[in-house]
Amino acid sequence: MIITIDGPAGAGKSTVARALARRLNFRFLDTGSMYRAVALAALRRGYDWDVPEDLARLARKLEIVVDGDRITVDGEDVSEAVRSTEVTAVTRYAADNPQVRERLVELQRRLAGGDDVVVEGRDQGTAAFPEAECKIFLTAGAEERARRRLGDLQSQGEPVTFEEVLAAQECRDREDASRPVGPLRPAADAVEVRTDGMTLEEVVDRLVVLARKHKASF
Ligand code: DC
Repeated sequence: MIITIDGPAGAGKSTVARALARRLNFRFLDTGSMYRAVALAALRRGYDWDVPEDLARLARKLEIVVDGDRITVDGEDVSEAVRSTEVTAVTRYAADNPQVRERLVELQRRLAGGDDVVVEGRDQGTAAFPEAECKIFLTAGAEERARRRLGDLQSQGEPVTFEEVLAAQECRDREDASRPVGPLRPAADAVEVRTDGMTLEEVVDRLVVLARKHKASF
């Protein structure tokens, strides 16, 4: 069974998807890390972002393996490296590239196999797994999402203000929604879950109930 979790940046998708997978004994696939991995590889090789064909060729060449929280590219563990601010800033070049998306969606389907898996991203219920049994669109108000992100950044010692985080988030929301291929939007059959004011446990409890509606054996 496949459970897709899509939603905007800062909605808590990764944390929720990981916790849900643990509760249900499913595998967990973080697809954002795959776009980040292509961007990291291109950054290291000094790719010209203005030549989308080169980036697509690189994406097709890389051996990307995702297993829970770990991601390797050509055998190197890049799980931490893909999270850097430098990589975050250029990941849109990979995410906006239709051929890169095609390649990564193909890989996502292969990695999911026929297993029980929670997949998390922007287009999982729409483009990658349109036939998924259970689709969640996880969201929260812009200010709540920015407050959570600010908390994360401040705990990492980054000197940022709430206004800066909110502005950067608005920019990412616009990019995610306006992408010509694989834009962020809820699938017609997705259930929208707004997490404002909810604890992680409350959100996961709600998703377990939704998942059980599709497969009573959990
Ligand atoms: O969720 P994240 O921040 O790790 O995602 C990194 C980037 O990749 C972000 O710009 C959105 C994009 N992305 C995407 O276009 N499609 C996905 N399935 C997952 C992420």
